[in-house]
Amino acid sequence: MSNTTPNDLSSYWMPFTANRQFKENPRMLVAADGMYYTSHDGRQILDGTAGLWCCNAGHKRPKIIKAVSDQMETMDYAPAFQMGHPAQFELASRLTSIMPGDLNHVFYTNSGSEAVETALKIALAYHRANGEGHRTRLIGREKGYHGVNFGGMSVGGMPANRKMFGNMLSGVDHMRHTHDLSKNAFTRGQPEHGAELADDLERLCQLHDPSTIAAVIVEPLAGSAGVILPPKGYLERLRKICDQHGILLIFDEVITGFGRLGTPFAVDCFGVQPDMVTAAKGLTNGTIPMGAVFASDKIHDVFMNGPEGMIEFFHGYTYSGNPVACAAALATLDTYDDDGLLERTDDMAQYWEDAIHSLKGTRNVIDLRNLGIIGAVELEPIAGAPTKRAFSAFLKAYEEGLLVRTTGDIIALSPPLIIEKSHVDKLIEILSKVLKEID
Ligand SMILES: Cc1ncc(COP(=O)(O)O)c(C=O)c1O
Repeated sequence: MSNTTPNDLSSYWMPFTANRQFKENPRMLVAADGMYYTSHDGRQILDGTAGLWCCNAGHKRPKIIKAVSDQMETMDYAPAFQMGHPAQFELASRLTSIMPGDLNHVFYTNSGSEAVETALKIALAYHRANGEGHRTRLIGREKGYHGVNFGGMSVGGMPANRKMFGNMLSGVDHMRHTHDLSKNAFTRGQPEHGAELADDLERLCQLHDPSTIAAVIVEPLAGSAGVILPPKGYLERLRKICDQHGILLIFDEVITGFGRLGTPFAVDCFGVQPDMVTAAKGLTNGTIPMGAVFASDKIHDVFMNGPEGMIEFFHGYTYSGNPVACAAALATLDTYDDDGLLERTDDMAQYWEDAIHSLKGTRNVIDLRNLGIIGAVELEPIAGAPTKRAFSAFLKAYEEGLLVRTTGDIIALSPPLIIEKSHVDKLIEILSKVLKEID
C-alpha cells in the first residue's frame, strides 16, 4: 500500500502556475466532454481556451479514444531510431497533404517546445550542409513565445520567461514586436498599421551582415503574449527580406495550426509560405503529447546526401512518432474532417468577431482583437499592479463557470472549434458580468 497522502498538494510543483495561490484554493478539473469541463465541485465549466489552445475538436471525441485504446492493444511502443511503424508514415503523408506548398516532410517531436528546438537545429544544419556554415545567427521577435527550452527561450521575447536563465544561446537577435494600440486598438481582424516593422529584419541584416543569419522564427499570430495579429503586409515583407538574403523563414504554428484561424494553417490564412512550420497542440487534439516540424523539399533534400547507411541528421527523441501519439493524430485528423473543423464554412468566425467586439465600452477594456476563433480582451492594468486585474477576471470567470486564459492584462480566448452560437453567447455573457464586477 502506498504511504502517500492523496490530497497532499505540496509535492507537485506546477508549471507556469502561482503554486501557493492555487494550493490555497485549488481549481481542479475532473472530467471533460464537448465544450465543457467538470470541476471537482461538480460544476460545468465552459472551455474558453480549448484546454491550452489544443483541444480544437472539443473533449472526449470517440474516434480518438478508440484509436488510442486500439493502438495500445496492438503495439504500445516501437523504437524511434532505425525502426519504423506504418502509422508514422501514414500520418506524415496525411499531414503534408493538408500543408500548403512544398512543406512535404515531417519530423516528429513531443511538444511545441521540442518542435521549435528541432526547427532551429534543422536551420543551422541545413546551411552547414549547403556550404554556408557561417549562417549561425537566429532572429526572433519581442513578445514571441516559442516554448521553454533554451533555443525557443532565446529566440522568444517574453521577458519573464528569459530573465532568470542566464545568457541563453549566443548570436540571437530580436525584431520589434507589432503590438501598437495607439494605432490599431479595436481593429477587427488584421491591423492596418505596422507592416513597416518587418523592416527591422533588414536593419538586423545590415547590423550583423545577412550572410551570418540562418533563420527568422515568428508566430504568424502571436498567441501567448496576448493575441497579437500580424499587420497587413507584415508577413509578406518578412518573406521578401528573407528571400533577398538567403535566410530561412520559420512559422511557429503551435497554436495557429489545425483550424484555429479558419484555415488548416496560418500559412493558408495569410498566404505567405515559410520554409518550415512547427506544430503541436491541435495535432492530437491535446490528447497525447506530440509535435512536428514541417520542412520544405529544399531543406530536406540537402540532408539526403552522403554515403547510404549514414544517419543524415543527428537529432530525434525516444518518443518521436510514438505509435499511440500517431494513432491519436490520425483519429484527430479524421475527427476534424468529419466535423469540417479545419475550414469551418458557416458564419461562426463573423459571429465570434461581433460577439468579441460587443464588449467595447465595458469597464477597463482598452482593446478587443479577433481572428478565426481567437479573441483577446485587453484591460487597463491597475496602476502599480500589472496582471492583477486580468488574474482577478480569470478567477472570477472560473467561479462563474468559464475557463479563460490570461497573460499580462490580456484575456485570451480560444475555445474549441466545435463552438456553437449558444456557447459564444454564454461566454460573452459571463465575461461581461465578470468585467463589470471585478476591480
Ligand atoms: C507558438 C508556440 N510555440 C511553442 C509553444 C510550446 O509548446 P509546448 O508547451 O507544447 O512545449 C507554444 C505553447 O503555447 C506556443 O504557443
